[in-house]
Amino acid sequence: MCNIETEQKKKVLSCIQPSGMLTLGNYLGALKNWVNMQDEFDCTFAVADLHAITVRQEPAALRSQIYSTYALLLALGIDPEKNTVFIQSHVPFHTQLSWLLSCNTQFGEMSRMTQFKDKSAKHPENVNVGLFSYPVLMAADILLYKPDFVPVGADQKQHLEIARDIAVRFNNKYGDVFTIPEPYIPKTGARVMSLQDPSKKMSKSDDNVNSWVAILDSKDDIIRKFKRAVTDSEACVRFSEEQAGISNLITIYSAVTGKTVAEIEREFEGKGYGEFKLAVGESVADTLAPIKASYEEIIKDKKALEQLYKEGADKACRQAYKTYNKAMKKVGFVL
Ligand code: TYM
Repeated sequence: MCNIETEQKKKVLSCIQPSGMLTLGNYLGALKNWVNMQDEFDCTFAVADLHAITVRQEPAALRSQIYSTYALLLALGIDPEKNTVFIQSHVPFHTQLSWLLSCNTQFGEMSRMTQFKDKSAKHPENVNVGLFSYPVLMAADILLYKPDFVPVGADQKQHLEIARDIAVRFNNKYGDVFTIPEPYIPKTGARVMSLQDPSKKMSKSDDNVNSWVAILDSKDDIIRKFKRAVTDSEACVRFSEEQAGISNLITIYSAVTGKTVAEIEREFEGKGYGEFKLAVGESVADTLAPIKASYEEIIKDKKALEQLYKEGADKACRQAYKTYNKAMKKVGFVL
């Protein structure tokens, strides 16, 4: 008898670092998909706090960012009952599996990671071993939960490819342990660029606060940042490689409104940049406003948050333990 009810849902996993304010880039590149996927898939989401310390963090700020990132996931509408939502450091199997995987990953492979090259150039005073092996910990985050899909922005594609390579190699050597995950990258919004320098990705670690929009920014701040966004000299709202600034704004507007590029070009035909920037700012602010309002309620109740992230860690531990144990056995450890 065919029973659709008991058919297993495909699995999804993704994580986000709590290293500062989450941005519109995080939202459009990844978080929006997390929210949309939760009905169709069996989802596991984590705050990747261990990854955050690969760059220096002030302890009190790190603590408050971990809380606020977890609260923001709930404010976005991610349901901790339906999904597994936890804090990475609460599940020790991540670092434990990471060691096993490290011993099956080559130095040369890690040296080619563009994020390592970028971050070590940005922080030459702190090129630590954790920064170098960061993608192995990320591979452990993923492989422990056997996901079919990993929703991320385009900047994480290389890390996902290495996670797949590590998994394939491990399975070939020791037998079938890991599922080989597919990246799930949105068609629009996979790479939101800086509002001040559209050749760079929008990033919460950018010192220029006008270059990024935080999910929790006020409406006035959002509109001001879009008004100040750098645009190009053509003075018409048209998507093209030569007009990187305006094309970035068109992408953002398309991602938040669902309108196509052609529809947007038509809507603003004969209109100036000023009018367009205001429309983008307003639509982004209107999209983010309910998330901000919900966040402000959720963050007030630390006790409730604590209860949820502890339950999330228990659920995650039960899943992660099985994969970790299997991997250990296959490698030859005595359990
Ligand atoms: P993180 O914390 O930098 O970013 C979280 C998610 O947001 C996406 N993103 C963007 N998307 C579009 N445009 C942007 N400007 C932009 N900035 C960020 C990222 O692609 C990411 O999906 N290493 C990961 C965290 C991580 C992880 C994992 C992800 C740890 N373990 C396991 C997936 C699976 C990171 O630093 O993301």
